[in-house]
Amino acid sequence: TNIILLGPPGAGKGTQARRLIEERGLVQLSTGDMLREARSSGTEMGQRVAQVMDRGELVTDEIVIGLIKEKLDQGGKGFIFDGFPRTLAQADALEGLMKEEGQDIDAVIEMRVDDAALVSRISGRFTCGNCGEVYHDVTKPTKVEGTCDVCGSTDLRRRADDNADSLKTRLMEYYKKTSPLIGYYYAKGNLHPVDGLAEIEVVAAEVAQVLNGSK
Ligand code: AP5
Ligand code: ZN
Repeated sequence: TNIILLGPPGAGKGTQARRLIEERGLVQLSTGDMLREARSSGTEMGQRVAQVMDRGELVTDEIVIGLIKEKLDQGGKGFIFDGFPRTLAQADALEGLMKEEGQDIDAVIEMRVDDAALVSRISGRFTCGNCGEVYHDVTKPTKVEGTCDVCGSTDLRRRADDNADSLKTRLMEYYKKTSPLIGYYYAKGNLHPVDGLAEIEVVAAEVAQVLNGSK
């Protein structure tokens, strides 16, 4: 199974992706995570994209398509595309790459949320620097303060682009460049909207219904 998680920043794409890895053994391909990894390992490309990301703008299609291609070449039994594609050019490139591998996109899950909710989602978010688990100050706190529930690490981090200014730019980028993909996939007949405002478990159940073919 290959799935795309589509939705604005803070919609819960990363949160649902992590559940799907565990429940279905799929491989998560998050271009945001890949770019952040390139930054922290200090590669030349990582340094080039750092400021663009912190401002909340999209990185060039060429760079992210290159990252995805590299991962697809390593193979896997199914992928969750998280935060990719984000432009029509990226969507076309993905279609070409999947064709080359003899594979298809089985479902595009559109996570619907409203802008007001996104501000509190983003401003309360923190993640585990060791295992990547995603938390929220209010909706998903750690059980023991300052310690990751999953791996016990105390390396909990907030993202440089999770501030009001960058979020505004990220939302504008989403509406301008990414939201046309909703029509693109609707036309292909594999768009499945889910209510991203529901509780994490409820969203997960809706996603499961889509993947089991009952929605
Ligand atoms: P990226 O890392 O992809 O960030 P994003 O799209 O802005 O998405 P987020 O990670 O912010 O949100 P999410 O939907 O995963 O939500 P989460 O699950 O964390 O991109 C970052 C940057 O990299 C971009 O701005 C761009 O510069 C660059 N980039 C990346 N991909 C690119 C591409 N393809 N092309 C060009 N540039 C690219 O949840 C958010 C919070 O809400 C968490 O605290 C969580 O605990 C909480 N939460 C989640 N679900 C629920 C729920 N149902 N109820 C209550 N709380 C919830
Ligand atoms: Zn952890």
